[in-house]
Amino acid sequence: MNHLLSIESLSRDEMHAILGLAARMKKTRGAHEKHPLRHQCWALMFSKSSTRTRVSFEVGIRELGGDVFFLAADDIQLGRGEPIADTARVLGRMCQGAVIRTFAQSEVEDFARFSGIPTINALTDSEHPCQILADLQTVNEKLGSFAGKVVAFIGDGACNVPVSWLWAASKLDFELRIAAPAEFQPDPAVIARAFPGAHGATCSNPQGGRLVVTDDLEAAARGADVLYTDVWVSMGKEEESAYRMAQLGGYQINARLVALAKPGALVMHCLPAYRGKEIDEETFEANAATIFDQAENRLHAQKAVLWMLAEARG
Ligand code: CP
Ligand code: NVA
Repeated sequence: MNHLLSIESLSRDEMHAILGLAARMKKTRGAHEKHPLRHQCWALMFSKSSTRTRVSFEVGIRELGGDVFFLAADDIQLGRGEPIADTARVLGRMCQGAVIRTFAQSEVEDFARFSGIPTINALTDSEHPCQILADLQTVNEKLGSFAGKVVAFIGDGACNVPVSWLWAASKLDFELRIAAPAEFQPDPAVIARAFPGAHGATCSNPQGGRLVVTDDLEAAARGADVLYTDVWVSMGKEEESAYRMAQLGGYQINARLVALAKPGALVMHCLPAYRGKEIDEETFEANAATIFDQAENRLHAQKAVLWMLAEARG
């Protein structure tokens, strides 16, 4: 593995390897047998806001022996129109790795290509791979394994987080149900790429993984092991705020929906959470222990990714 650009580009074996190492990172925190980022300096270059991703990478890189600095994309020449390819070629000569949060997926792909250094997607409009690795780690911890489980995503089913979940379901052995109004369902072209040859609303892979896309949130929640949601208004979509509130209103995780899921089902949220929108206050607080373990796992899962990238470089 030379980069982490998407769940789409990760293999099933790589995902299993990352999750195995992530569990070890968590268990051995503060006492790792080596520090593979020693003498390395990593850049975090973000064009969008972040709390969890920024902090977990800054802490994780240091815990693995590396140094790190943060660049707000608007503060550097990139924000004044310098091409990503030129920015990448400069950073590639000075840093040993980069973590990029931006809009277009092509920007992280171009950065990886032109910089020549290990590059990690810290969220684009298309995918949020680091989030889904931490989420899978959380499901493994809480339910023993994600294998054979049903994860129901409720809300904006077309944004980065559910799309990365969709790619995970196309390679692993769990069922993903995405419940969203028709215009907020994943792009059919993405589904066709993830599940080649699939027909109709249900797709499956040879490992036993399945994807169901529906506008019926109750059907999606029924018997699910995990109820998951994300914001209705992703970063960059603020101008559509009023429209999204109107269209997605009702696609909320609340006590009524939890009652349809399996008894003891996990309620997960990638955060930040907007109470009264995609989740209600009571349900959020009742499940805060899981949700903040999920947030903490960003650190461990990303340290596993950093470790593997460093090892691959030798
Ligand atoms: N979940 C997540 O990526 O959070 P941040 O936007 O705070 O990094
Ligand atoms: N879909 C959200 C995820 C935030 C972590 C966004 O892109 O804003």
